[in-house]
Amino acid sequence: MTWDVLRYDTVDSTNNVCKALAAQGLDSTAVIARAQTAGKGRLGRSFQSPEGGLYLSALWQDCPAGQLLTVTPLAAVAVCRAVESLCDTDCGIKWCNDVVLHGKKLCGILTEGGASLESGLLEQVVIGIGINIRHTKTAFPPELCRRVTSIEEAVPDCHVKRAQLLSAVLCELEQLLPDLSQRRFLREYRSRSCLTGRTVEIEMTDGNTKKASVVGIADDCGLIIRNLNGDVETLYAGD
Ligand code: BTN
Repeated sequence: MTWDVLRYDTVDSTNNVCKALAAQGLDSTAVIARAQTAGKGRLGRSFQSPEGGLYLSALWQDCPAGQLLTVTPLAAVAVCRAVESLCDTDCGIKWCNDVVLHGKKLCGILTEGGASLESGLLEQVVIGIGINIRHTKTAFPPELCRRVTSIEEAVPDCHVKRAQLLSAVLCELEQLLPDLSQRRFLREYRSRSCLTGRTVEIEMTDGNTKKASVVGIADDCGLIIRNLNGDVETLYAGD
C-alpha cells in the first residue's frame, strides 16, 4: 500500500474532502490541510484546527467489513509510534481516540465509514487525524488550552516538521492496517491505555455522566468499566 497525498492550505474538513474523493472511487489517498474551518470531532463536536497542526485524513477502501470500530484504536497506536519515532517521548492513549502527552490531549481521531462496496466484504473508511505540532498561546480558547498540548510544548527539544510527521504516520498506518482483523496491535493499545485502573467520570452519549473504575480494554476495543454498584459493563461510545 502506498499513499497518494493531496495538500491543501485550508479546507472545511479533510474528512469531507476525503469522502468526496472516495465517492469518485479513489483509494489509498491522504488529504492534508494547514488549517480547517469546520474540523469535525467525535460525538458531533467541532475540532479546533488552527495553523500549527497536521490535519490528515486517510482513505482506505479495503477495510474488512465489521472492523470499523477497531480502526480508530489502531490509528491511535500508529500516531503514538510515529510521534515516538521522531521525538524522545512516550505517548499514551485515552480511550478511545485521544493520544496524550504528559496528561494532555495531543491528537484526536475521527474515523468515518462509507457504504459497503459491492462485494459486501470491504468497507471504505476515512481515518481523520488531527495532531497539534505547535500553536501560539492564543490559538485555542483558554478552557481548551488547559486540556490540550502540542509536540513543541510537551517536548521542546523536538522540532518536527509537518512533512516528517505525515510520512511517519502514513508509514505506521501502512504497517498496521493489514493487521486490523488479527488485532495484534491490541496488546500495545492496552499497554498505552492511561485510563486502566483509574476512577473516571464518563459522559454518556445521552449527556448524563457517571463515575466508574476502568477495568481495561475488551478484545473488540470497548472500554470495560466497573460501576459503583459493582456491575461490570463494556462501553463503545462516550467520553
Ligand atoms: C476528536 O478528538 O473528537 C476527533 C478529532 C478528529 C480531528 C481530525 S483533524 C483531520 C480530520 N478532519 C476532521 O474534520 N476531523 C479529523
